[in-house]
Amino acid sequence: RQRESQSLYQLTDKAAEFYREQLRNHPAAGNAVAYLRNRGLSGEIARDFDIGLAPPGWDNLLNALADTPEKADQLELAGLAIRRQDSDGNSKPGGRHHYDRFRNRIIFPIRDQRGRTIAFGGRVLGDEKPKYLNSPETPIFHKSRELYGLWEARQANRNLERLIVVEGYMDVVALAQFDIRYAVATLGTACGEEHIQLAFRHTSELLFCFDGDRAGRAAARRALESALPHMQDGRSLRFLLLPEGEDPDTLVRQLGGERFQQLIEEQARPLEDFLFDLLSEDINLQTMDGRARLSKLAAPLLDLLPGGVYRQLMFQQLASRTGLDKDTLQEVIHAEKARNT
Ligand code: UTP
Ligand code: MN
Ligand code: MN
Ligand code: MN
Ligand code: MN
Repeated sequence: RQRESQSLYQLTDKAAEFYREQLRNHPAAGNAVAYLRNRGLSGEIARDFDIGLAPPGWDNLLNALADTPEKADQLELAGLAIRRQDSDGNSKPGGRHHYDRFRNRIIFPIRDQRGRTIAFGGRVLGDEKPKYLNSPETPIFHKSRELYGLWEARQANRNLERLIVVEGYMDVVALAQFDIRYAVATLGTACGEEHIQLAFRHTSELLFCFDGDRAGRAAARRALESALPHMQDGRSLRFLLLPEGEDPDTLVRQLGGERFQQLIEEQARPLEDFLFDLLSEDINLQTMDGRARLSKLAAPLLDLLPGGVYRQLMFQQLASRTGLDKDTLQEVIHAEKARNT
């Protein structure tokens, strides 16, 4: 098991090197470099994040790294090669049973906390679908437990006072381009409890900055629920929902780094405001019915909070918004729990 992982780390490392090399030397690299420039990225940032290129073609990586069938199987295990459905390799050009997973895409290596490359994200250069392709789960890559950019953020900062959590690879890289080197992203998946725990191992302040679109708002809601059980006293969580159609990448390029940071300072809302505003969205708190609905929605969520002063304050907050006392809120929690099980 250990040995198997060891060789997978070596293989993903070699693949990263291959993709990086292609961005320098492949005949198709011109397009890719132009694409990256066009998106405002410098060579320095591309190097910091080890950005590469999977050239067009079905077997570039296989040809470079798999000179035996065993090695092709290893590439499959690493998520980098896909086994052909009709695996009669002999009838295929090159006699291969596999083809490259990443083809004709910009490559973002995903590194673990120790800086080892464990997986990749790949973006098309145009409008083809899917826009991003990610490595599948492998013995060394569990996407629910990894944050893109965390290793790079730790390299760039002695102490991480805070982390900004964004949705996309390009958001992380674009922020770094503007010297905001403390952004991380989940990898085409919702921000779950393990992501939150991982982030809080490295900083006590998280700031969620998701896209101003439906997916972004859903992501914020989901992140909120994942975070609640981990809000020990002393930790802070803020939310910034961006204007419709914007994401951190587009916004930082419009505003520049300083104004982007200023925007965050001024507009990010602390968890308590965000939560109550979100839950009160379609509720009229002037009516008794509205206050009842808010307490039914909020009480079970607040019950996710760990014990501590913050939990007490949040319940007080709910009490004052609904006019209910603490004992009554406890009853609401029990009733809602009973209803949901
Ligand atoms: P977005 O659609 O917001 O893309 O998806 P983006 O990151 O802003 O992409 P650019 O700026 O056009 O390059 C946010 C994230 O969701 C995942 C990726 O991780 C992406 O960064 N995603 C998106 C996928 O995994 N697959 C997709 O096809 C699209
Ligand atoms: Mn495992
Ligand atoms: Mn989006
Ligand atoms: Mn986006
Ligand atoms: Mn974007």
